[in-house]
Amino acid sequence: MSALQPSANRVFKGHKELREALRDTQTYSSDLQGDADVRDYRQLPLEVDPPRHHLYRSALAPIFVKPSIERHVDAFTVNTKKIVEDYFKQSNQNVVSNLALPIVMQNLGVIYNRPQDVAEWISWGPDVWTAESEQRSGEVLHRYLDRIYEEALIGSSDDVWRQIATMEIEGQQVSASVFRGIAGVLLAGGRDTVVKLLTGIIWHLARKPSDLQKLRNNPDLVSAAIQEFLRFFSPLPMMNRTMVPESGRTDLPDDRYVGMSFISGNFDTTVFENPFEVNLERPRNPHLSFGFGPHTCLGNHIAEIEAKVFIRVIIESGKNLVVEEEDISFHKPPLEMVPDQFRYVALISI
Ligand code: HEM
Repeated sequence: MSALQPSANRVFKGHKELREALRDTQTYSSDLQGDADVRDYRQLPLEVDPPRHHLYRSALAPIFVKPSIERHVDAFTVNTKKIVEDYFKQSNQNVVSNLALPIVMQNLGVIYNRPQDVAEWISWGPDVWTAESEQRSGEVLHRYLDRIYEEALIGSSDDVWRQIATMEIEGQQVSASVFRGIAGVLLAGGRDTVVKLLTGIIWHLARKPSDLQKLRNNPDLVSAAIQEFLRFFSPLPMMNRTMVPESGRTDLPDDRYVGMSFISGNFDTTVFENPFEVNLERPRNPHLSFGFGPHTCLGNHIAEIEAKVFIRVIIESGKNLVVEEEDISFHKPPLEMVPDQFRYVALISI
């Protein structure tokens, strides 16, 4: 979910302050049009406030609950092992596009029961809005969404698109624009975020072999390690809210936005001891990487289970990892040691 965020008038930064603001959906509304340069419909349930938010969220929840994702662990493991093996067969391959992206897309193909679309999704690269060129555009995604909507309406396939296209919200079957809003976020939300998480994990384990060894010696640490990687890499650093709900209004003030800096909450020294250190054994880890409150990430189990399988495959491979080349941009101080964007990371195994 790489959203283009208009600049915010005020940014919430402290862990406690953020949680309070994220709960207060009346003052800090999600009724806003994100990515206005590339789309004119709302991503759902992301850009709608309670109580309507609940209608969309509860309709989608069964797809994302933990047991629905856990039943795919074996398929995730097969995909991940094969992609990891292939990655290390050739030198100078980019972890982002040759390792993390194919894993994330193959797994999504399993969850959504759309294996036939995986190659197409991979061809878009990590960010759906820059699928065709560096210039942001919604064309590639929207062509795909319109096609699968038509197919889902006339077909009888047992996949997520048919499930959504035939879903009823308030007694009405979803419209083409609601379908775009839901299906779009299901494709965009679980993409660059998880790619960044997996890339961050393997980059860290290559740079700090003692952490890789620690996980090898004690695989029970993997779950806590994933929470720490989520905290440290904060794959979705910030989202906006609006002080003036946008629906049905044309007189919108430019200074209506406030930012929710999940990443700042994750480095709040009153909550996390030595937050700038990756500590795989951090005893308490109430990170805000999945947000907080009614809009808390719906795909959290997908991200966590994919990461768990990924780490297990890496530790069981017995490989030691070395960073061969990297092109990474980092956040601004005081977070200058935290990668913001991984453009290119090449690893070798020894
Ligand atoms: C490491 C991976 C991920 C991170 C860090 C992440 C982060 C977030 C955050 C911070 C929010 C809240 C946004 C807000 O409050 O404005 C969110 C919402 C959401 N995420 Fe994720 N996400 C991840 C993976 C996924 C995956 C795999 C999916 C699905 C395939 C997904 C689907 C969604 C959806 C549908 C929402 C909207 C929930 C709502 O509004 O009720 N995310 N995500």
